[in-house]
Amino acid sequence: MGEQERLAKDHALRARAARVIPGGGMYGHQSVASLPAGFPQYFERADGCRIWDADGNEYIDYMSAYGPNLLGYGNAAVEQAAAAQRARGDCMTGPGPVMVELAETFVELVDHADWMLLAKNGTDATTICVTIARAATGKRTVLKARGAYHGAAPWCTPAREGVLSEDRAHLHSFHYNDVESLEQTVDAHADDLAAILVTPFKHDVFRDQELVDPAFARRVRELCDRTGAALILDDVRAGLRMAYGCSWEPLGVRPDLSAWSKAIANGYALSAVAGGEALREAGARIFTTGSFWFSAVAMAAAVACIGEARRSHVVERTQALGERLRAGLRSQASAHGVGLRQTGPAQMPMILFDDDPDQSRVNRWTAETVRRGAYLHPYHNMFINGGHTEADIDRTLQITEEAFAAAAARR
Ligand SMILES: Cc1ncc(COP(=O)(O)O)c(C=O)c1O
Repeated sequence: MGEQERLAKDHALRARAARVIPGGGMYGHQSVASLPAGFPQYFERADGCRIWDADGNEYIDYMSAYGPNLLGYGNAAVEQAAAAQRARGDCMTGPGPVMVELAETFVELVDHADWMLLAKNGTDATTICVTIARAATGKRTVLKARGAYHGAAPWCTPAREGVLSEDRAHLHSFHYNDVESLEQTVDAHADDLAAILVTPFKHDVFRDQELVDPAFARRVRELCDRTGAALILDDVRAGLRMAYGCSWEPLGVRPDLSAWSKAIANGYALSAVAGGEALREAGARIFTTGSFWFSAVAMAAAVACIGEARRSHVVERTQALGERLRAGLRSQASAHGVGLRQTGPAQMPMILFDDDPDQSRVNRWTAETVRRGAYLHPYHNMFINGGHTEADIDRTLQITEEAFAAAAARR
């Protein structure tokens, strides 16, 4: 079957969308605009680790909705808790009792946290963290790693259209894992430093991922202590995938604030800010809210998701599955004479090819895997979820083996 035929409904939807949604139908990083031909834009259904596109093609999904699917799509415990809450009420004139239960659950889960605030998207959470840090310190400057993504608000969006230089006037960058560059950037702004904002590891698009150097993480903490700036850990993408708590807990480095979203409610729209005692008062002083932020269903889903994550040992299981995939790909690549770079935590894999400056090799290979039913991404880190099994990984490895051969043949 040709590509046109395989994705006929998808292409018809894209044509309709182009008329009524700016930018050809899909905005942001979930757009297929930069993906090779053969990647569907629209999905009809999801279950466990599988997704079905609008044309009914089935895929073993390695994007997990770009992060929110932690336990598997449609996880029974989460769906039951959400359905029970939905039957009682969702968006009401005030939050449900479940908001307090979730806050208690989170404070117990995250060791630096004495309180939490809830919102909807990761950008809400990182923006609230920065606002609290500025309110607490009375200072303006925020430091972040060059290339790190923290959301789509004017103060942090990677694009510049419609953004004023004033919006970003107090945002400066250092190089991730580079203590010297961090120290120099802190020294240059030490008098006006509100926060250092950092992700638990380097997970920028189009690049090899880098685990954090523990010495770098400790130095971030020391510099925040020395200057009075808040250490904000942006755990929006990695939270609950690396540890049952903040992703820097295993290192023993405690942030002052952490931002969460994506995986905390297994696909229900929710984000959170967790903070320590010292910033409680500033957290109460800032004004932040949203019409849908107190919806009870997502909160009930989050309580169930956190419980189920621990009960099912999702961190260890997804890590073991990721290692199985990584080992299989390593031996296939070496048999095909392909230089493959697999970086980051095994449960959040990034796969890039050597000698591939224009991404054409990884594009060709992932297009072949997608055509055969394994949705692998050529430039964004992926996410193993609790719905994957060893059999899914092994089936994927059959597909990747065929894709190596097919991609070589097409060169
Ligand atoms: C590390 C990080 N921070 C913040 C965000 C923004 O989250 P959202 O897209 O939910 O606003 C993302 C989203 O990908 C992210 O990966």
